[in-house]
Amino acid sequence: MRPSGVVAVLNEIIINRRRHIVELGSGISSIYLGRLLRQHGGQLWTVEHDDRWAATVERQLADESLDDVVTVVRAPLAPMESPWPDEQNAWYETDAIRRRLAGQPIDLLVIDGPPASDAARQHSRYPAVPFFAPLLADDHTIILDDIDRPGEQEIMKRWEQDLNITFERQILAGGIGIGRSRPSFTV
Ligand SMILES: C[S@@+](CC[C@H](N)C(=O)[O-])C[C@H]1O[C@@H](n2cnc3c(N)ncnc32)[C@H](O)[C@@H]1O
Repeated sequence: MRPSGVVAVLNEIIINRRRHIVELGSGISSIYLGRLLRQHGGQLWTVEHDDRWAATVERQLADESLDDVVTVVRAPLAPMESPWPDEQNAWYETDAIRRRLAGQPIDLLVIDGPPASDAARQHSRYPAVPFFAPLLADDHTIILDDIDRPGEQEIMKRWEQDLNITFERQILAGGIGIGRSRPSFTV
């Protein structure tokens, strides 16, 4: 996620008081989110498919004493049906995610994984919203990164049609889509 995207997520945490957050795709963003949650209260579950990268992020979190605020959820990618004909998606193993979430409704879902930069995987982030929809708080925000790419634009349109969500498109450097259950005065 580019710095402008990370700032938009941090804004969302402060302005709309998001406290139970799931991030798909771990990285430096997880550290920034953890630092802010440490000050304001809250919990981040960051889902990561790559074991080695998960260990790197965990080490950094431990070094900054953020490991009680941020939980790295290791979830390998597994085949998943795609709504696009003749396409096979690979998404996080859902049991691994369910096992680690504390049962608290999620008020912010940040979608920055799995990797989707090549054409064969361009729709790989689609399953995020159908999977998490029943786990979201009544008042929630969904942020999708990389909406400058055709795959993410198609995914957002599909979520809007199938799941009755409207996304605001913020074309920053790269672009993020923000879907809110209720209007927000800013971000
Ligand atoms: C788009 S990245 C997620 C980036 C993360 N949300 C951030 O903004 O820092 C998707 C995947 O790339 C891998 N990844 C992220 N940062 C990486 C890095 N600095 N070096 C190597 N792999 C990385 C991880 O497997 C991650 O799940």
